Amino acid sequence: MTSRLNLGLAKEVAKPGFDIVSMFSQREPERYALHSRYMNEMMVRVLQTIGYDVGFRSGTGQYLFDREGVRYLDLLSGWGVFGIGRNHPKLREALTGVLSADFPNLVQMDVSPLAGILAERLLRYTPFLENVFFTNSGAEAVEASMKFARKATGRPGFVYCANAFHGLSYGALSLNGDGNFRDGFGPLLPHCSEIPFNDLVALDKALGTRQVAAFIVEPIQGKGVNIPDDGYLSGAQELCQKYGTLFIADEIQTGLGRTGRFLAIEHWGIEPDMILLSKTLSGGHVPVAAVLARKWILDRVFDRMDRAVVHGLTFANNDLAMAAGIATLEVIESERLIENAARMGARLLTAFQAMASGFEMIRDVRGKGLMVGIEFGRPRSLKLQAAWSLLEAVSPGLFCQLITIPLCKQHRILAQVGGHASHTVKLLPALVISGEDCGWIENSFNEVIADSHRVPGAIWSLGRTLIEHARKAYAMKSVGH
Ligand SMILES: Cc1ncc(COP(=O)(O)O)c(C=O)c1O
Repeated sequence: MTSRLNLGLAKEVAKPGFDIVSMFSQREPERYALHSRYMNEMMVRVLQTIGYDVGFRSGTGQYLFDREGVRYLDLLSGWGVFGIGRNHPKLREALTGVLSADFPNLVQMDVSPLAGILAERLLRYTPFLENVFFTNSGAEAVEASMKFARKATGRPGFVYCANAFHGLSYGALSLNGDGNFRDGFGPLLPHCSEIPFNDLVALDKALGTRQVAAFIVEPIQGKGVNIPDDGYLSGAQELCQKYGTLFIADEIQTGLGRTGRFLAIEHWGIEPDMILLSKTLSGGHVPVAAVLARKWILDRVFDRMDRAVVHGLTFANNDLAMAAGIATLEVIESERLIENAARMGARLLTAFQAMASGFEMIRDVRGKGLMVGIEFGRPRSLKLQAAWSLLEAVSPGLFCQLITIPLCKQHRILAQVGGHASHTVKLLPALVISGEDCGWIENSFNEVIADSHRVPGAIWSLGRTLIEHARKAYAMKSVGH
């Protein structure tokens, strides 16, 4: 890997005939050096430590390609933004269409036809909701829904679940159920209370104060792929109705076909007051998010002409984002990606469940559609237990890296650990994956998990290396680096 910077580049950018594609090719080998020097050095260290410093040069559909053209299967899909896969031709056509059309775009003292069309198309999926408010990112959709809930109900409070992830801006962070994200950033927003996921008794108690504007929940929690019990979401909806609290479903990750339905809430037949969408809606190219809401809620927010812009974002409704959303819906519908997600997801789930019976460290396999979690746990056999305990003592959850690292290095599969200190490896591929890809996933996981059950063995030598890295990281932390 080249780590030296080409310091002559500043001039190169200004040269006539500037071409972004050649610039990418020429300077791509410097990517880690550039990031270490100008951006987030720790991110580069992480990538180098876990061997994810591959230097991808291109991406198509569910695949990434390295400098030698070697194909990788991407189960991260950019944290879920590539639902329709990378660089989909229909999306590209829509975006280049916008760029070549000289549309007026962002006039501000006008309204956008493309935004109206996207709103209309989204609401076809949720006949119980009437209005849409667009934002640029998931966290901004969460922020908007929080403001709307307060204004609509006149109440200050929010209730969220342990382990929840709703984004990292201040409002969203105040609803984050993982201390690791919150540490060092307080004080956060007051009147936000955490309850356990899947616990209706706790929700009843929290809402009983009648001070709660909204209960926000991911129908399936992204961190750890936690699936609610069957009666949970409908019970939560009833409690919200009983106490006059708004029910917000954060479908930023689970929406648009990810779980084998257009929305994950369809698995449980509920009708929240607001639904948040993002990620896949962007087609992976142009950030966009949406708050789908009941009309009376937005009527209370935008309640007079002099308050018509009381909440808004300069770039929301921009033509490229709206076109990305419309094209993405076209692709999802015309390629029947929701059905594909349901079919491929069911196949993977069955395969992993079968695998679980052969490996003592697989504790649970769960998922819906193409959101799948494989949870590992303390082994029973003594030899494995000793190795597991050593890893856990240094850094809880480190074991999952012993799965994801060889998956990438030896099997060309990118996967992720389901959260801080998590024992769950998470699969979040593009919704376009094929039966052949499922075979690739099943064989690769089977081999790596089998290796992880051999002590001593290559995987546990890797474990020792990771322990060394983790110890060094902690030592650095304690001397204030
Ligand atoms: C469920 C959920 N909500 C909100 C967000 C925040 O979205 P963004 O990163 O676009 O702000 C995420 C991002 O991972 C998410 O998974």
